[in-house]
Amino acid sequence: MKSGNGNGNGKRRMTAGWHDRRMDLSTKVGVVTGAARGIGHATALTLADMGIKAIAVVDQLDEVFSFADEANECFERKVMVPFKGSVTSSDFRRHVFTEMQSLHGPVSICIPAAGITRDRLAVKIDKTDGTADVYSEADWDIMMDVNLKAPIYWALQTIASVAEDRFSRRLGEWHPEEHVQGCIIFIGSVSSAGNRGQISYATTKAGLEGAQGTLSREAMYHGVRCAIIHPGFTDTSMVRVLGEDYVNSRILPQTQLRRLILPEEIADAICFLIRNAAVSGQLWADAGWHPTA
Ligand SMILES: NC(=O)c1ccc[n+]([C@@H]2O[C@H](COP(=O)([O-])OP(=O)(O)OC[C@H]3O[C@@H](n4cnc5c(N)ncnc54)[C@H](O)[C@@H]3O)[C@@H](O)[C@H]2O)c1
Repeated sequence: MKSGNGNGNGKRRMTAGWHDRRMDLSTKVGVVTGAARGIGHATALTLADMGIKAIAVVDQLDEVFSFADEANECFERKVMVPFKGSVTSSDFRRHVFTEMQSLHGPVSICIPAAGITRDRLAVKIDKTDGTADVYSEADWDIMMDVNLKAPIYWALQTIASVAEDRFSRRLGEWHPEEHVQGCIIFIGSVSSAGNRGQISYATTKAGLEGAQGTLSREAMYHGVRCAIIHPGFTDTSMVRVLGEDYVNSRILPQTQLRRLILPEEIADAICFLIRNAAVSGQLWADAGWHPTA
């Protein structure tokens, strides 16, 4: 959105240079995965509220359809297009991008938020017979597919969508006068620094840092920025399954806020990363919590 939100001419004149450099979402098509619940849900709503042209809301749950219906009614426009499927399916991913391209144009904003946990100690010793039990390889593979490979491939498909659109318009390397074309925001975690009981989850989130660092160097050729946010414990079903006792005794006392972060607060930070072209690295939104030994 450009300025023009009732600030008055004087203020607009004084801040014009800055407003011109913010991303104009009204021309952008986005995709948010994991959008039926939690952080993805809140991010899709915030993007709609900020005036994005259209968003593919993607999830494996049926809830994604009622979410899109309610949001479209609330915003009085068909801003959300729901897609049900697993983010790990390449065919499903390509279908989402093809559909969005034909309905609204190339996808240039991507928040691949779908994620899962399979937590347990990396190696557990049976105290009766002394045998060691190592982390399940089946769980490891699922975690890598959903939390690491999928977000990266949804990001790559977004960059491909922008690159193909630019090629079709005979545009080569991106130039600053064009303003930023697209943006990827990966969802990391405070656990990316390592966390007891989260060998697979922490590895996936640290892996996304490598992808972000690489893509932030490569994708700017096409005018696509790339950043990663590391949320702390956020009030979503992913954390609520830990149980109220665990949250109250093990998490809250160690946070500065003494409460879980709201998904809307993380969504607000994600949208800040999208709008502010100067940010391309990492943002920690952790409420002062860091993993301890
Ligand atoms: N909640 C937290 O404290 C926290 C902290 C740091 C990072 N994160 C990350 O934020 C992201 C969102 O998590 P959340 O807390 O909102 O969790 P959530 O469980 O509330 O929502 C996750 C959504 O992803 C969807 N999903 C999972 N696997 C999928 C698949 N294979 N295909 C399609 N959809 C799938 C689920 O159906 C769900 O709607 C995740 O990447 C998570 O790792 C969460």
